[in-house]
Amino acid sequence: MDKYVIEGGRRLTGTVTVQSAKNSVLPLLAASILTGDEVVLRAVPAITDVVSMTEILRGLGADVRFDGDDLRIDSSGAEGYAVPASLSRELRSSVFMLGALLSRFRRASCAYPGGCDIGLRPIDLHLAALRRLGVEIEEREGRILCSAEKLRGAEVVLDFPSVGATENILLAAVCAEGTTTVCGAAKEPEICDLARFLNEMGAKVRGAGSDVIAIEGVPRLHGAKFTPMKDRIEAGTFLLAAAICGGEIETEGVRGETLGLLLHKLRENGCKIHAKNDKIRLQSSGKLRCNRRVETMPYPGFPTDLQAQETALNAGGEGVTLIVENLFETRFKYVPELMKMGADIEVRGRSALVRGRRLHGASVTCGDLRGGAALVLAALGAEGVSEVCDLSHIDRGYADFEGKLVRLGASLRRVRI
Ligand code: EPZ
Repeated sequence: MDKYVIEGGRRLTGTVTVQSAKNSVLPLLAASILTGDEVVLRAVPAITDVVSMTEILRGLGADVRFDGDDLRIDSSGAEGYAVPASLSRELRSSVFMLGALLSRFRRASCAYPGGCDIGLRPIDLHLAALRRLGVEIEEREGRILCSAEKLRGAEVVLDFPSVGATENILLAAVCAEGTTTVCGAAKEPEICDLARFLNEMGAKVRGAGSDVIAIEGVPRLHGAKFTPMKDRIEAGTFLLAAAICGGEIETEGVRGETLGLLLHKLRENGCKIHAKNDKIRLQSSGKLRCNRRVETMPYPGFPTDLQAQETALNAGGEGVTLIVENLFETRFKYVPELMKMGADIEVRGRSALVRGRRLHGASVTCGDLRGGAALVLAALGAEGVSEVCDLSHIDRGYADFEGKLVRLGASLRRVRI
């Protein structure tokens, strides 16, 4: 297990090279099995969730090779449709394999998916949608067994704009007979990226990014070469880091509007933000006013994947903030670790009342991906030295996190323990 040793108080300056988006690349990897032709995904980030998805594809018989940082996937030889439990439990995005495998093989099975421990994370919306498309589903001994004589287009209404359920429906509907309409679809930019990729493969997906998506089934899909969108959550994480530490950074490749309300919240804190096309420049004194209130919402609201990092900023600011987490039941598990740094936070269910104060260094442990990133950000802004342990959570979603922070001026080193 590795840890970071961080000396707080350094300002951050420079340009951040943003990775391809984890939450786009993962469904794109699932989509690659929709065709027996070769698929190339360019500039795939070196994160462990990608490694887990490539292991799933290899386990199904696909040939998956890195060519520099491009990933070449040839699933002409794939014939498996059962995702091993050991891999299903590694990450949430194993569940997307159901839709893709059903499209390719009319059969699919996986164990209940894993992913960050941030809530119950049921998959009822995924399964109800697949049943609407004609899939027979049996849940036995922790596995989900799916089969379909034929996938038939249907109208699917989502009770909640679930990102994963929307993606699973796209993957299952692209080669179904007839047209599928998804009402109440998620509108996240990653959904648009998946739709762009599927259409490059010959699919007919319309309306991605709105709450009604229409998928006209086609007989088959062909290969494609594709460059995924940049990771807006990574960019947001670095903007919050520079806000906390003080300094001036620029992120490239991410448009301000894809960050939901983040830029508006950072301006409330007193940061100067200049966003033009896909460049965002932030200047911060490091002395921040707390936001009065931050509520996470489905896109285009404040992103839940930046909630922990936003709480870390307010924990070290001036004033009082109410943070409300509307998407996941238990996404404040990082708070006790922040309190070891002196943070004054009271959690009541889905709300956290944060009284800003000067934080000090401490030894803390990551419990999930974004909570871990929040601990690093708090340590960068705290007085004195901190240790942030169990970096496997951070490695799931941030490629070269330490290298990028050090290049911006952070005093941080990675130590094997
Ligand atoms: C995706 O997870 C992302 N993961 C998450 O990012 C992100 O937080 C989330 O979308 C919301 O934006 C990937 O894309 C790999 P949801 P997903 O289905 O698809 C409930 C990160 O840090 N729900 O939109 O699992 C669910 O419990 C990760 O990068 C059901 O009730 O999110 C949650 O309360 C964390 N039934 C809400 O919907 C279902 O069948 C949102 O979940 C599905 C979801």
